[in-house]
Amino acid sequence: MLRILVTGARGMLGSDMCEVLGSDYEVTPYDIEDFDIVDLEPTQKAVREVSPQVIIHLAAFTDVEACEDELERALGVNSVGAMNIAMAASEAEAYLVYLSTDYVFDGAKGEPYIETDVPSPINHYGLSKLRGERHVQELVSKHLIIRTSWLFGPNGKNFIDTIVARASGGAVLKVVNDQRGSPTYSLDLARGIRQAFERKVEGVLHMTNTGVATWFDVASYAIGLAGIETDITAIPGSEYPTRAKRPPYSVLGSAVAEAAGIDALPHWREGVKHHLRRKNLLKEGAAR
Ligand SMILES: NC(=O)c1ccc[n+]([C@@H]2O[C@H](COP(=O)([O-])OP(=O)(O)OC[C@H]3O[C@@H](n4cnc5c(N)ncnc54)[C@H](OP(=O)(O)O)[C@@H]3O)[C@@H](O)[C@H]2O)c1
Repeated sequence: MLRILVTGARGMLGSDMCEVLGSDYEVTPYDIEDFDIVDLEPTQKAVREVSPQVIIHLAAFTDVEACEDELERALGVNSVGAMNIAMAASEAEAYLVYLSTDYVFDGAKGEPYIETDVPSPINHYGLSKLRGERHVQELVSKHLIIRTSWLFGPNGKNFIDTIVARASGGAVLKVVNDQRGSPTYSLDLARGIRQAFERKVEGVLHMTNTGVATWFDVASYAIGLAGIETDITAIPGSEYPTRAKRPPYSVLGSAVAEAAGIDALPHWREGVKHHLRRKNLLKEGAAR
């Protein structure tokens, strides 16, 4: 049976990834309690012990605002950590799957970014993840970099849960309506990642749910499905200042997926519906 080591296994995507791999593989789920990817020696030791044929590297410092405040930590976890995993993968001759982000792009293109577009990050998180990509490319001969965006799922802090909780609490919601991206449901993505590595795809691959949305679109749709009556107002990003700049348009298109025989992921609305159903928040009759 193929041995797969998953880092960040208790995170939002990692939990669904392990569920999707199920018992078809010999999966070793690791997270920060097991070893810190910033330290090379324990990382190498853990990888040597498992001797995996595949490593799915999901561990990361994913708080975009905190990354802006803590550049050194962001580079430590997302760049040096990826380098350490890449070195260990190279030694084990493992196939390394590394998860990256739409935030490697600046958002100025105004149409979907494909795999060959040149990254130009505008925040520390995007910069640190891009450096991680570079280490993977330089150190591991057999690798796959999957860029995704705007994740939500039941096992991590995410925008949909926050907005539904605030709406349930009676808050008046003001939500940004001038950033566009593709919200992506972690369970759909995990299934796509499995398909991609089973097809032994290498290089860079963009993978998100289909459809384009603003945060306002996502919020309106989710609270509608949850059957909550509340006021929700669309605002420009300038009225919701953040420390990290966000690309105004970070939709990912793929020139690779179809040629590699990878199925398109469902529409993001299907993902939101599934997510709310899984959390028991979907109001029957509200499904649209
Ligand atoms: N979330 C998104 O919207 C998004 C978008 C694009 C790409 N991605 C990428 O997709 C991957 C999965 O994201 P996610 O949202 O599932 O992340 P997540 O929920 O934050 O999970 C990441 C996991 O990695 C662990 N971790 C952090 N630092 C570590 C370290 N130094 N050593 C070992 N483990 C460490 C975290 O532990 P703690 O929780 O204790 O820190 C957490 O369990 C990441 O590579 C991320 O960059 C995410």
